Amino acid sequence: PLFQAFNNGDRGFKLEEKEEPHIKRSDFPSGFLFGAATSAYQVEGAYLEDAKSLSNWDVFCHSAGCGKNGENGDIADDHYHLFLKDIEIMHSLGLKAYKFSISWARILPRGRFGEVNLLGIMFYNKIIDNLILKGIEPFVTLFHNDFPQELEEKYGSWLNPEMQKEFLHLAEICFKSFGDRVKYWITINEPNIFIEWSYKYGIFPSSRCSEPFGNCLHGNSDVEPLIAMHNMLLAHGKAAKLYHETFQPKQGGSIGIVVHCLMFEPLTDSELDGEAAKRAFAFNIGWPLDPSIFGDYPKEMREYLGSELPSFSLEEKNFMKNSIDFIGINHYSAIYAKDCMNSTCSSIGSRAVQGFVDLVGERNGVLIGELTGLKDLYVVPRGMKEIVNEIKIRYNNKPMFVTENGYSPPYVQDELVSEILNDVKRVEFHTKYLASLAESIRGGADVRGYFIWSLMDGYEWLQGYNVRFGLYYVDRQTLSRTPKHSARWYKNLLRNNGDLI
Ligand code: NOJ
Repeated sequence: PLFQAFNNGDRGFKLEEKEEPHIKRSDFPSGFLFGAATSAYQVEGAYLEDAKSLSNWDVFCHSAGCGKNGENGDIADDHYHLFLKDIEIMHSLGLKAYKFSISWARILPRGRFGEVNLLGIMFYNKIIDNLILKGIEPFVTLFHNDFPQELEEKYGSWLNPEMQKEFLHLAEICFKSFGDRVKYWITINEPNIFIEWSYKYGIFPSSRCSEPFGNCLHGNSDVEPLIAMHNMLLAHGKAAKLYHETFQPKQGGSIGIVVHCLMFEPLTDSELDGEAAKRAFAFNIGWPLDPSIFGDYPKEMREYLGSELPSFSLEEKNFMKNSIDFIGINHYSAIYAKDCMNSTCSSIGSRAVQGFVDLVGERNGVLIGELTGLKDLYVVPRGMKEIVNEIKIRYNNKPMFVTENGYSPPYVQDELVSEILNDVKRVEFHTKYLASLAESIRGGADVRGYFIWSLMDGYEWLQGYNVRFGLYYVDRQTLSRTPKHSARWYKNLLRNNGDLI
């Protein structure tokens, strides 16, 4: 499997951060929300139950066989049936917030021309009600990679502007059904990753790409990501406009977008690499965030992409601008940025998505941080404060949540359960990343919450069940949940101010 090849664990690397920070709940503001996160396809299972239709991921994994040994999310963690137990677990940890996503195919199995599936509405009502009963704030994501396959086939997915209307309809149904209790909405989770992986590399459904990426030869990996993102951003903007105008005045919640935010560090001190790191930010993070806050794409993107980059009309700019009340930051890692505008790009450095930048994990044979279980994700705790500060400055300290931060260890065999449970590395990871986050908050960054990815081991999109991000271990045979060392650590932090361990 892919991830094994990336983890030849005996490679030498130097860790730059040696100090062992201790972290306390009281290092953070009192109203700060500590939580955990999951997403529908990764934990729910019950893929055909209660009138849910097939999603793009159901079909993709059934035909292509995702993950190790063709694993898929058909059963996942069976959260669909075990949600009460899972909410109990969250409560026992002392979580104050839970980020999860709605399965679009459960709510609107056939899109906007079909019926609303009341069984789907009931399922999320039960989740929301039980969370609130336990004092846990629901953070609800409307799109986290999965949508009804029927829409994929009918429209050719996000390349078609019709998807904006479909998404707006989903959003309206959700605001109407759940908005009396849900005060934090996320329109889209990681549009930058979804678009890049679906339309540039073709490794997510819709599997669109062109040479030299993958082996799917339909698609144009230079322009399609730009078009699909444009539709997705307009879908976000329209949903946010509807929320702000019609629902927020009565319901009083807030709405945001979540972006995958790597910290891009220049590979060398050269001016060119410095510029490359800035371009990487603009082409990855600014790509969805600038339009959502300033109403238009980053100027760096326009400068280099010209008319290939779609344009917003004046009306669209107006509703895109300030379409979010908060920024959701998914932060996992840092990576070096190397200029390739003045030299050749590697096969994955590309003008359309990365802005003529190569992203590399090592400098002079030394890795930027310790390897994890996923390719290109390294442990670099300073990245947290640096990315938060960069976002704070560029977006005038708009309220932020760290909506995901998490660690998966290099591959551990299924049988080695005690090793999986004794996840000291995860505790070290979160302690260091939280210490780094606390520094940025002390420096004035308006960060209001932090979510661990993930509450429990779940289905990882391309790798299956052996990439484990959970605070809880899930036995694949019995689906029983067992707290890892990290779950006890988190509980101690949240319930005892971190004083006991
Ligand atoms: C971020 C995504 O939101 C989530 O779905 C994924 O499992 C984690 N990254 C880890 O790759």
